[in-house]
Amino acid sequence: MDKNFYITTPIYYPSAKPHMGHAYSSIAADFFARFKRLQGFNVFFLTGTDEHGQKIQRAAKENNKEPQVFCDEISKTFFNLSKTLNLSNDDFIRTTEKRHKSAVTHLWNILEKKNEIYLSKYSGWYSVSDEAFYNDDEIEEINGKKVSKISGSSVEWVEEESYFFKLSKWQDPLLKFYTENPNFILPESRRNEVISFVKSGLKDLSVSRKSFSWGIKVPSNKEHVIYVWLDALTNYLSALNYPSTEDPLLKNFWPASLHLIGKDILRFHAVYWPAFLLAAGIDPPKRVYGHGWILSNDEKMSKSKGNILDPIEIIGKYGIDPLRYYLLKEVSFGNDGSISKEKLESCINSDLANNYGNLCQRVIAFNEKNLNLKVPESYNFNEEDKKILQIFSSKYNQIIEFIDHQDINNYINFIQDGLFSANKYFNDQEPWNKKKIKTGLIQ
Ligand code: MSP
Repeated sequence: MDKNFYITTPIYYPSAKPHMGHAYSSIAADFFARFKRLQGFNVFFLTGTDEHGQKIQRAAKENNKEPQVFCDEISKTFFNLSKTLNLSNDDFIRTTEKRHKSAVTHLWNILEKKNEIYLSKYSGWYSVSDEAFYNDDEIEEINGKKVSKISGSSVEWVEEESYFFKLSKWQDPLLKFYTENPNFILPESRRNEVISFVKSGLKDLSVSRKSFSWGIKVPSNKEHVIYVWLDALTNYLSALNYPSTEDPLLKNFWPASLHLIGKDILRFHAVYWPAFLLAAGIDPPKRVYGHGWILSNDEKMSKSKGNILDPIEIIGKYGIDPLRYYLLKEVSFGNDGSISKEKLESCINSDLANNYGNLCQRVIAFNEKNLNLKVPESYNFNEEDKKILQIFSSKYNQIIEFIDHQDINNYINFIQDGLFSANKYFNDQEPWNKKKIKTGLIQ
């Protein structure tokens, strides 16, 4: 069995300070990383920041800062958040680092050498906020403004010389790849979305921009910068020291086991990324999981609505572990979910204090009082003892199955039910009475 597990979060745009949506992606990835480590896997867990492109260049300008200075400042807040969230990541990559730039340049050269890239002209819609090109049929007009139907963000008309990646050529190989790897995209509903998008026809993809400069230069033509998504996606390889094929990190951890991302960036990860990799002769990742959105009181968080939940503030008030538990429990993983401070408080009271806290409290207090915090050796289990142990041991394979399909909610239900049964067992067994009878045995 392959005992290596490589898991990644998306790399975040340091265009503004992090919010709860970013924390959510990271917390979920951390949950899987920790589980796989406990299971005995050799885990590599990566997160970081995505620092090039027009979006960042504009944000820096609005703040009257040089892009690099601006990125250094905001990337630091993401780095600090990774500490506050107590993430167990093994690396934090920034796309402005030299190791990343040389990996991207290398990948570009391969694609060019393999004749997968050609020079032409792009004319069409572009959303700076999404860093995405959109077709005419993906655009609508709202209040006189052209916006993307997919993300709702505003788009602008772009006409410029551009390099193109021969994405159209990869339509059939991609469909074959999805069929042969039915669990490549999860959850299933997202897989279906991607397949119908690819079936509807792929056009060649513009992979360079000429009208601004903040990015990695096209090696053979310095007037162009490499499209930020081709740049950003490569982070998953550059953190493993690609292109050093003999490097143990690359050998052990590629292809990635799981790219955990939000549903809004599925197309980049499940269509463009495997196409770039197939074209370069590199194995695609094993799984891309698109989780849903965190809503604040049923609405998408946004600066203009003023409903942004600040993870740092919430952690300051309630602590990190309650927040981690709440986010994973409350949102049905893969779907959108609404969170609020009120629901967080009631979750802390019911699940954590009453169920889990209560069990810990009575077991530890009883143990401390009678056994000096030592775990007694097992002996003559009665039927009830065996039953409660069985609840946990019999489900071992099923739990692994839940985790390996990113089915967090069934896993948490199992834990909650288990805690409930354990509390009941403790009550019914009345160990304080047994102590009187069998003092000799447990002391
Ligand atoms: N830089 C790109 C990702 C490149 S990965 C090679 C990007 N960055 S982002 O900062 O805009 O978003 C990063 C992640 O945060 C995405 O997975 C996105 O879905 C997630 N979230 C941002 N807001 C969110 C919510 N409100 N809820 C849940 N996650 C959302 O996209």
